[in-house]
Amino acid sequence: MKSIHIAIALVCMAIVLAVIIQPVRKEPHVGNEAGDTIILPEPRDSGEISVEEALLERRSIRNYKNEAMTLTEVSQLLWAAQGITHPGGYRTAPSAGALYPLEVYVVAGNVDGLRPGIYKYRPQGHELEKVAGGDVRADLCAAAIDQECVEDGAVVLVFAAVYERTTRKYGERGVRYVHMEVGHAAQNVHLQAVSLGLGTVVVGAFDDEEVGRLLQMQDDERALCIMPVGRV
Ligand SMILES: Cc1cc2nc3c(=O)[nH]c(=O)nc-3n(C[C@H](O)[C@H](O)[C@H](O)COP(=O)(O)O)c2cc1C
Repeated sequence: MKSIHIAIALVCMAIVLAVIIQPVRKEPHVGNEAGDTIILPEPRDSGEISVEEALLERRSIRNYKNEAMTLTEVSQLLWAAQGITHPGGYRTAPSAGALYPLEVYVVAGNVDGLRPGIYKYRPQGHELEKVAGGDVRADLCAAAIDQECVEDGAVVLVFAAVYERTTRKYGERGVRYVHMEVGHAAQNVHLQAVSLGLGTVVVGAFDDEEVGRLLQMQDDERALCIMPVGRV
């Protein structure tokens, strides 16, 4: 009898220890306050279609269904845009001198697991930082000369650049490098969207200062490109 009690006690201790020492797992998390960190789901590294098929199918899509996207899809798009893919910090898109001048803002409107609001992608840690709450898609649409696709996307990615990160090393030539880089990143988002069965478009026509003010960008950040994304 005594040995049974000892065995039960040992099993209980083992369970308690297993719970205490298990590694801290990163769970997707819905943040509420400005400054909160939202850990994104792990991006996947395989898909349903080939690069060739994605290139063939890619089109600028401006009409989306009024359906929610998932946080996993948003995570995948952000990874495609600027995700870190190498221990040296290198990313999915090339960058002159590996100086990474781009910042990606996320304007969430209709995303399961992510409250409407403005977020900033942090490639290190593959996470979002909450900037502010509230659905600002209509205001962003107004700042983009009322292009309705901007309001209709379930989520809107906005690329900004800190030019100084690149011009500090390359001078004026760095400006052209930054513009090339946002093109690389935007095409990555385009191809990833095709692979996920989503639609997107590059929107370049907008009021730069209004977009910067609306998204509470830092003083040294300049808005470069808006990409609404939604189901097709
Ligand atoms: C730099 C740039 C800016 C663009 N700006 C807009 C825009 O403001 N609004 C829009 O509806 N499409 C915009 N587009 C998308 C183009 O209209 C589109 O790529 C073009 O019509 C070719 O169609 P496709 O992308 O389906 O091949 C832009 C594309 C680029 C590359």
